[in-house]
Amino acid sequence: MAGRIPEDIIMQVRERVDIVDLISGYVQLKHSGANHMGLCPFHNEKTPSFNVNSTRQIFHCFGCGVGGNVFSFLMRMEGIAFPQAVRRLAEQVGIEIPEDEPDDRELQRRKEREQLGQIYEVATDFYHQLLLDDPRAAQARGYIRRRGFDSEAVRRFRLGFAPDGWDVLCQHLKQQNIDPDQAKQLGLIRTGREGRNDYDMFRQRLLFPIDDLFGHVVAFGGRVLDDSLPKYINSPESPLYHKSRILYGLFQAKNEMRRQRKVVVVEGYFDHLALVQAGIENVVATCGTALTADHAKVLKRYVDQVVLLFDQDKAGQQACFRAMPVLLQAGLQVMTLALPEGDDPDSCVRREGAEKFGERLDSAGSAVDYFMVMTLRDAGDSAEAVARAIDAVLVMIRQVPGEIERNLHLATLARCSGVDQAVLQRQLERTTVPARTEAPKPRPSQPLAPVVGYDGSQNRGRAGEQVKEQGGDLKAQRLLLALMFVDACAAEQVKEVGVATVFDDPLCIRLAEQIQDSYSQQRQPGEWLLDNCEDPPLQDLLTQILLSEKELVSDEVEKIFGDCRQAVLRGQLKQRRAELHTQMREAEQQNDSDRQTVCLQELTRINRQLKSR
Ligand code: UTP
Ligand code: MN
Repeated sequence: MAGRIPEDIIMQVRERVDIVDLISGYVQLKHSGANHMGLCPFHNEKTPSFNVNSTRQIFHCFGCGVGGNVFSFLMRMEGIAFPQAVRRLAEQVGIEIPEDEPDDRELQRRKEREQLGQIYEVATDFYHQLLLDDPRAAQARGYIRRRGFDSEAVRRFRLGFAPDGWDVLCQHLKQQNIDPDQAKQLGLIRTGREGRNDYDMFRQRLLFPIDDLFGHVVAFGGRVLDDSLPKYINSPESPLYHKSRILYGLFQAKNEMRRQRKVVVVEGYFDHLALVQAGIENVVATCGTALTADHAKVLKRYVDQVVLLFDQDKAGQQACFRAMPVLLQAGLQVMTLALPEGDDPDSCVRREGAEKFGERLDSAGSAVDYFMVMTLRDAGDSAEAVARAIDAVLVMIRQVPGEIERNLHLATLARCSGVDQAVLQRQLERTTVPARTEAPKPRPSQPLAPVVGYDGSQNRGRAGEQVKEQGGDLKAQRLLLALMFVDACAAEQVKEVGVATVFDDPLCIRLAEQIQDSYSQQRQPGEWLLDNCEDPPLQDLLTQILLSEKELVSDEVEKIFGDCRQAVLRGQLKQRRAELHTQMREAEQQNDSDRQTVCLQELTRINRQLKSR
């Protein structure tokens, strides 16, 4: 692995990248003064509480509490680590990061990946040229035309044709001096049986090149030109291709997805092609694999809303219902619509034309409601059967992000099933989501918290910490932290009186300690911690404080310290009070009236103290 990135480089990168530019690539921002507001990409919201401050070059969401600088934004957004984020931004702004020599294995690995990528490039080009003008591809060109596609679509998606014959690609790769073993790793060619020659994987098939997120071809899907089976064969998983993460068409669709905050998901390559040709650009295809949590995470980077547009048959409907929980758990709003029986998006748009189909698409409704209607319709008439159907619907509703949305679905369910909404509500609270589909997400009943940690993982407990509110107590502690950021003396003073006498919130204590550390290393804690603190909840608190920081005047200092001391004492008293309550209950159960009296006396004293403060 590459070593640590020098600090001055990190600083240069931070200075060169503008946070508003960076975030605008992901979030639509409206600006007022130095502040830009938008809908938070880290939680679901309808009114903007996501704030980007161009003066301070930090962001903070007042809804869910996440925040940070350019690096932390990219880390959260793309689920990457700090060094990766720095490298990516450095590349964007043209700053070179001196590599302290990577070890041989790393060099070897990089070289190999590069070579592998190159092989797909060569193969894609070869097959594409063939389809465009080789006599061997005449039948394929006819097939595409009959299915209603023009050569523009062929060029845009670099469709190809693998002609009949056993070693057409093998020969071409040989001419290009490409290592056959590498081509085998990618599943483009295979070893012949019993000493025979290597042979091509794709023969007499129309090829759809599948791109990764950066627009590099990493796999092919290949369709026969007739009714023979298998209809499609696809490249196997390889060092470049992980199908649980890749969606067909995403690279081309992502700008429009970002613009509309919405994506249409179809099943097939041809469905994808047909929609794009009808002018619908924000479309991706799952290519026959089930939608995974990784897919959902990728989509969530660009959109809030997913329209599932699957084939109108039993299999399509099942795929739709299976995809729903995955998407809902990623915090996405899921819509769907029913096509005429037996249609797929390709056949439907071809028959109806772009305009009519567009209207149809606009009429997509909530997938949860659709699931509800279908499930209730297919259930039997007995009370037991209906109850089972309702349970299934409740499991789905449980996964809907947003309490208001859940409540509206419950109201619909009450209407459709004739069961009282209060009964449904109680049942919903008892409903658990089966482990198979449970993605690491905050419980919907919890306060909103950042969903994804820096490593792309969850940190439910830690994220919870930072949204914990303790009335006015936390306010004083945050003010003191703000003071510590701008005033080294205040930090020093905190050290003298002891952190624990002025802070009792665990997160505040951690931050106070880090501020003190920064000063002892001769660093200005604000910038330093933003770059170097690898503790997401701490960063969130940090940005919140940096953004809310008001002019602090010196005669306030004593008051702030006083408030904090009071807050800590009050916290201690409250904790003692809680202990006493427990002891009282125990004493009561044991009929220990002496102990009860002692507890009661202390309780009275504590309550009086709390009141007088
Ligand atoms: P469909 O059978 O619906 O294919 O499978 P399609 O794309 O609509 O193709 P046409 O319209 O019949 O030509 C949907 C997707 O499932 C995957 C492919 O990605 C296909 O696009 N699939 C299907 C396979 O991977 N293998 C198969 O044998 C069939
Ligand atoms: Mn089809």
